[in-house]
Amino acid sequence: MKNFITTQNWSRSELQDIIDFAIELKNKPYQPLLKNKSIAMLFFNPSLRTKTSFEVGISELSGTAIILQPGKDAWPIEFEENIVMDGNSEEHVKEVAQVLSSYCDCIAIRAFPQFMDWDHDRTDSVINGFAKYASVPVVNMETIEHPCQELAHILTLQEHYGDLQGKDYLLTWTYHPKPLNTAVANSSLLIASKFGMNVKLLCPSEDYHLDDRYLKAAEKNCESEGASFDVSYDIDSAYSNVDIVYAKSWGCLSHYGKIDDQIAYNDQYKHFIVDESKMNLTNNAVFSHCLPLRRNVKATDGVMDSDYCIAVKEAANRKHVQKSMLSKIL
Ligand code: CP
Repeated sequence: MKNFITTQNWSRSELQDIIDFAIELKNKPYQPLLKNKSIAMLFFNPSLRTKTSFEVGISELSGTAIILQPGKDAWPIEFEENIVMDGNSEEHVKEVAQVLSSYCDCIAIRAFPQFMDWDHDRTDSVINGFAKYASVPVVNMETIEHPCQELAHILTLQEHYGDLQGKDYLLTWTYHPKPLNTAVANSSLLIASKFGMNVKLLCPSEDYHLDDRYLKAAEKNCESEGASFDVSYDIDSAYSNVDIVYAKSWGCLSHYGKIDDQIAYNDQYKHFIVDESKMNLTNNAVFSHCLPLRRNVKATDGVMDSDYCIAVKEAANRKHVQKSMLSKIL
């Protein structure tokens, strides 16, 4: 039994197999590969793309998707161990994971961090609680990483460039009024480094560094692939001659849990918006973003409406890679 919680537990060739099969499924979408299989999808947070692409994709493979929103249409769940459950939670993940495992063949989880204490959030206690007590594979639909987005990102880049080895890849922080999850940024570093690209992280200052776990993993992946890993605070030099620009906003870990402070802090860096003048510094790069995206806040209309923007293609590819991944783990 293999979970799909982080791509770090999958080799490059295993991930490439998922992507290659996704291309086959893109050409032949309706196959009974999940016939008689049920997937419980638990959403602790909102979604447009993940929810739709999983549900439609599972249906195209003749499987059944069960969508639950704990605390809304299902009981609120406790994840702390050895706790007196006299708060809002009505049941413990120990029972929930075992019960869902008895009905379904897979449990998929979307659970963003709580944005109170990064030392706690970095343990990813919700999905790891399910992984500990479930007896079926567990899939990450975005927690503190977003591995399904990673697969779609690589498929979309390979459709554009073919081999990605040695391409120059920029992950840039971009402005957003609220502090957002670091998941896609963490994932961007993991997957770009795993696929042999020279990876550059651009952010306003050290305060916006991602967790050391991800910086170190990216550095190690790059080293294994003979590629480089750099962190930059200088916009012009970071954009210069890169082949790929991926943008994401995230809340800085130094102000974690202090939302008002963080909003004021982010406001200094509105100029990190992705615009045409920055894209003109690149090597005719493609631009992408996981979506949702606030236009003219994170990226300009000019960038979003350009031929080089592949964000919608990446979102469309979510369905194909997830179908492929589910077929392989089930
Ligand atoms: N990119 C992504 O996961 O989109 P949703 O939050 O809409 O699912």
